[in-house]
Amino acid sequence: MNKHFTNRKPFFYDVTLRDGNQALRKPWNLEEKEIIFHQLVKLGVDAIEVGFASASESDFKSCEHLAKIATDNIVISSLSRAKKQEIEISWNAIRHAAKPRLHIVYPVSSFAIENMLKISNEQVIENVKEAVQYARKLAGDRGTVQFSGEHFGDCLDTVDFAIKVFQAAIDAGADVINLANTVERYRPMIFLDMIEQVVNSLAGNAIISVHTHNDLGMATATTVESFFKGVTQIETSLNGLGERAGNTNLFEVACALYNCGEKVDLNMEEIFPTAKLVSKMSGIPIHEKAPLIGSDVFAHRSGIHQDGVNKTKHLKKSAYGAIDPSVIGREDGHRITFTSQSGGGAIKSILSEKGISFSDRDISELQPILKNYSDEIGRELTIADVLVFAEKIKLERNEEMVNA
Ligand code: KIV
Ligand code: ZN
Repeated sequence: MNKHFTNRKPFFYDVTLRDGNQALRKPWNLEEKEIIFHQLVKLGVDAIEVGFASASESDFKSCEHLAKIATDNIVISSLSRAKKQEIEISWNAIRHAAKPRLHIVYPVSSFAIENMLKISNEQVIENVKEAVQYARKLAGDRGTVQFSGEHFGDCLDTVDFAIKVFQAAIDAGADVINLANTVERYRPMIFLDMIEQVVNSLAGNAIISVHTHNDLGMATATTVESFFKGVTQIETSLNGLGERAGNTNLFEVACALYNCGEKVDLNMEEIFPTAKLVSKMSGIPIHEKAPLIGSDVFAHRSGIHQDGVNKTKHLKKSAYGAIDPSVIGREDGHRITFTSQSGGGAIKSILSEKGISFSDRDISELQPILKNYSDEIGRELTIADVLVFAEKIKLERNEEMVNA
């Protein structure tokens, strides 16, 4: 087995307050950032990127404040470009943290170098070296330095050059090399092959990290699989907030790794409360079908699924559900509702939740009535609707409702 695969657990590095915040229509102020910060601490992430200190006076102040209130066990970083002045501002903002981290980003793809930087490859290496050396000097022994290769995901034919840049960063004192899929354009497998090349070349010399965006909706897959390729640090954001289609969603990655039996050192039951808080604070609603946190994702309407859910409800693993909702702090749990697609099991389960027992004969009588009614009114039935028809049947037969 590859030595980089043993005794590992994911190191969760959260970028909501930086990548997430920079994409908000109205970026958070200090007080708002602090609310999210406390929730991240409750969730138990290992590292928090508190902002881009040189972006604005207010970003500096929030970075400084959050670094000051951070507990000793948490890594606190601020991002800057490979410019000494920005690195210095970042340092001044976060130096009060027990574990400060200077994070420097610089493009490594030929597309970005030719079209954005317009400098030679040699100059790229020089600039990275100089910036990382400077950061290393400021961070000293107490702090750490992270170098991010922006647009690494575009280095399809130039991974060798990217590795050269990363090696230069490590030689200059970087502790962490972050591989960014700044824009998700291709297949996860292509990115994973590139990750593998970097891990095989550098993993003994630095911590390898992954940072992916969700432009094609595959960020979770790419990040989860990166972990299994030997990446240890995982950069994610709450509710997937971030530039464009967002960053990799922390909750999805955590649950996938948890389901695979990996050691996920997070307070998973904080996931749902965190999602609701972030939605409220960002003004961005959670789609009802958003994996894990959407209001409708534990609802079951088809007869076969309802039957499976009922038959496995005493088990940790549901026939139809990615995770036990209580693990992620969802008190609402699995929900069985009735539409024209639903089966007798749904009726039984709805009635028994109300403490009413119905025989199989009663249920087969009630089922077509409810299906027709649901079709007629064009919506799923509420518990109250089901009760009305259940009572009607009993009344017609002059029978009492029996408690379950
Ligand atoms: O998407 C990106 O490339 C970034 C870097 C700072 C890692 O956010
Ligand atoms: Zn990003």
